[in-house]
Amino acid sequence: MGKFYVTTPIYYVNDAPHIGHAYTSVVGDAVTRWHRLLDDDVFFLTGTDEHGLKQKQAADDLGISPQELADRFSVRFREAADLLDIQYDDFIRTTEPRHYKAVQTFMQKIYDNGDIEKGTYEGLYCVACEAYYTEDELVDGCCPIHTGRPVELMREENYFFKLSRYEDRLLEYYDQHPEAVRPQTRLNEVLGFIRGGLQDFSMSRSAFDWGVPLPWDPSHVAWVWFDALPNYITAVGYGEDDERFDYWWPVDYHLVGKDILRFHAVYWPAMLMAAGLDPPKGVFAHGWLLVSGEKMSKTKANKITAAELVDDFGVDAVRYEFLRDITFGQDGDFSWEGMLARYNADLANNLGNLLSRVATVVGKKCEGAGPAPQDGSPLQTIAADVYAATADAWERVAPHEALEATWRLIRETNAYLETNEPWKADPGPVVDAVMGDALEALRIVSVLAWPALPKTTTEIWRRIGLSGSPADQRLPDAAAWGGYPGGLSVEKGQPLFPRKQAD
Ligand code: MSP
Repeated sequence: MGKFYVTTPIYYVNDAPHIGHAYTSVVGDAVTRWHRLLDDDVFFLTGTDEHGLKQKQAADDLGISPQELADRFSVRFREAADLLDIQYDDFIRTTEPRHYKAVQTFMQKIYDNGDIEKGTYEGLYCVACEAYYTEDELVDGCCPIHTGRPVELMREENYFFKLSRYEDRLLEYYDQHPEAVRPQTRLNEVLGFIRGGLQDFSMSRSAFDWGVPLPWDPSHVAWVWFDALPNYITAVGYGEDDERFDYWWPVDYHLVGKDILRFHAVYWPAMLMAAGLDPPKGVFAHGWLLVSGEKMSKTKANKITAAELVDDFGVDAVRYEFLRDITFGQDGDFSWEGMLARYNADLANNLGNLLSRVATVVGKKCEGAGPAPQDGSPLQTIAADVYAATADAWERVAPHEALEATWRLIRETNAYLETNEPWKADPGPVVDAVMGDALEALRIVSVLAWPALPKTTTEIWRRIGLSGSPADQRLPDAAAWGGYPGGLSVEKGQPLFPRKQAD
């Protein structure tokens, strides 16, 4: 049993949750569920990022206090997570007292170590990013991330984090731990950025007070990223419970969108080093979920919420779509048509159909009692290969490959039934053997697909007569052939995934 600590970014509360946010959370949830099956001690963290100028301005626009904005929207993110069965172990909010305490301890430590110094800064600031850019980085004079959004000239007397002192140490760290940034192409991007020369950055703001005050100068608050990133250490007891902190830190994976890679793979490790802490073991950057080829945005009014998709397809189908149709690490185009096709092919025709056939034949030819599988079944070696491939893919955080591997067992079992045609045969040992094998394959599939489809696999488990649920199973034992005991009552029930038509 190992420990496995994974985080999602904490989401800004100036906007309602959409499927771009849901995407990271679903991947984090599925990966951690896989590790729960491995009997790892798992900690999965998500939450909301509630300070900074952008939040303050959004609150002003609505005529409410920033705390009220945070309270209203944080709840919506939590509801969005619950809607998608995200099994988080903690939901952190940066306005919580525990976080103030941890951030202050963290900043003070870096200040005492000499890597925060006072200075004056003048630069071009994008409020949406909460970050300064150099002239070179702008695109047509505008923010490189928020296309077309003008930057503002800001001049502030601030405290600076001495990032420039960390170039060599960061390069050395990545030289020794090339696996710490994934996918590989993103590591190259990070190394290129570091080699290009690191600038000290301003880590405090004095023009507004919506943030965590610096302990040594409360007329300044922490710059939002200096406050947000440490959420990952607050939640595991930094400055509060050393034993707990030492157990969980360093984190196994920060899952992040590619837009915030630099903050996680350059700024954050340097900040941690400056505080005498280990850098993250892994930062995994994923691409954009695009809608008809474009990034979702307020201005384009092309935002899709998870709730809309859940209404149409159900929770598990939405989870499956995110995990199976998009290569984690790359941009992926989301479309309703694509989702419909995937739903009908993989969920209705393959998985749903398999359960329905098996339950029908067991009802008609085995008096409703599921027979035991055969030792040496042709499906046995396939199941072993499928387990190996599935486990390997989850280990590499490649959900699309993991599910593709698992679905091979579903397809092969359907093919096995088609070859043997038990529905045409007379009841007896031959039919029993084939049906026992198919039930055993369904049992194994229920365990292997549980991280993606927690509700559906639990229902399959129940319908094939097993007690408990896939959640209680432990790998690799639960994937070994022969676990279906036989003699259990099998229930047909309604289709798991009724076939859908475009309308
Ligand atoms: N608050 C910061 C993160 C601080 S982490 C210490 C932030 N918040 S965010 O709400 O703007 O974005 C959160 C995450 O959602 C980011 O990883 C971002 O990449 C992701 N996504 C937002 N829209 C997205 C898509 N359309 N597609 C995929 N992910 C995208 O940044």
